[in-house]
Amino acid sequence: MKFSLSPSLGGRLAPSPTLYVNERVRQMWAMGETVYHLGFGESRFPAHPKVVNALVEHASRQSYLPSTGIPELRQAVADFHSRQLGSEVSADRVIVAPGSKALLFAFQMATAGATILPTPSWVSYEPQSRLFNRSVLRIEATPQDCHRLHPDRLRRILNTSRHEQHLLILNSPSNPTGQMFGPGLLAEVAEICRQYKVLVLSDEIYGLTAYGREHVSISRYYPEGTVVLGGMSKHLSLGGWRLGTAIVPQGEGGKELLQAAAKVGSELWSSASAPVQYAAVTAYSEDADLAAYIEKCTALHGARTRYLWRGLCELDVSCAEPVGGFYLFPNFDHWRENLAQRGVLTSVDLARYLLDEWQIATLPGKDFGTPETELSLRLSTSYIDLETDEKSAAMIELADSATDEEALLQDHHPGMNEVLARFQKFLTTL
Ligand SMILES: Cc1ncc(COP(=O)(O)O)c(C=O)c1O
Repeated sequence: MKFSLSPSLGGRLAPSPTLYVNERVRQMWAMGETVYHLGFGESRFPAHPKVVNALVEHASRQSYLPSTGIPELRQAVADFHSRQLGSEVSADRVIVAPGSKALLFAFQMATAGATILPTPSWVSYEPQSRLFNRSVLRIEATPQDCHRLHPDRLRRILNTSRHEQHLLILNSPSNPTGQMFGPGLLAEVAEICRQYKVLVLSDEIYGLTAYGREHVSISRYYPEGTVVLGGMSKHLSLGGWRLGTAIVPQGEGGKELLQAAAKVGSELWSSASAPVQYAAVTAYSEDADLAAYIEKCTALHGARTRYLWRGLCELDVSCAEPVGGFYLFPNFDHWRENLAQRGVLTSVDLARYLLDEWQIATLPGKDFGTPETELSLRLSTSYIDLETDEKSAAMIELADSATDEEALLQDHHPGMNEVLARFQKFLTTL
């Protein structure tokens, strides 16, 4: 039998080329082939025992919970963010959900107007907007200045837009670029948003994985118009536990936003999982062991990502120095003509070519909103040499005893080194 699909799904949401990469990697693995997986953005370090024990302790919690979250977790998240953001956050401004992705969905569904996205930006923002028939306006950026966000381009969009309201989604540290917005830029963007009454969804899920410099939230400069999103997926490597958080602005406007997002939640997921919410109270508590563990994992992400970045720089690949998360967004436009001779004209072609010819899995820049023919790729270092739970546990132990970051990478990262060797061969064949 055949059924007609909703126009937003059937017509406007094209299947992503990301699927091709992941599907192909799975096939290659199933056939026993080696693939160097730089396409997978999941922090792989072991869950901290304190949080695991808390989950075990609360495994028998079986009831539905309020769609905003249990009071003790909302309080713990508020206290955590008060410490992080340096300004007092009250529990009634916090909502938790099964993942920050769900909250991004809820806020986009609950508000009117167009969505503004920097280029490049995380894969799910735009498809989510499309699900609600929201217009998406892109702030143009180029590889020449490492996709820097230009506030004057944001202003131009707002000046010429026919939409009554705008939602700007910022993500710092960024997936896909590994870059962060500095205080000066954030203050400038905040001023523009204030002038045009833009609602900012500040996706700070990588906030605690910043290693290059301090993470600063735009809420410091634009508290009245910023919703701060976070969660346990990245700094605690708990993506599969599905817990995300949002903090709405103070006052009536914020309260209304929270209630609207909670309404979406109540119709869609009811509440985040009960045992996970109780365990999350421990995860958000002030705890020296947890803080040290987060720091250790972040330092290791930083060491691994910087190593790949240095290696690519030595091959003259243009790529911004990463300062947070575990991503790089290198550009290969320099080799455009030689690649064209091999039929590689777009970032999708390039990702396929690298996978088919060099067994390196990456994601095409196009999935992140860059123009089709811009030869940028998103590389993730989170999976390579940490393919199994045993390997990632061993790597954390090694990092404990390692005194020399370079030696840790050279001696204990065969996959990473092979990737660099293959990139070198690939580029010399062009
Ligand atoms: C930029 C960004 N935002 C949000 C998410 C979603 O995270 P969560 O696990 O909280 O849904 C991800 C996950 O990859 C991400 O990279």
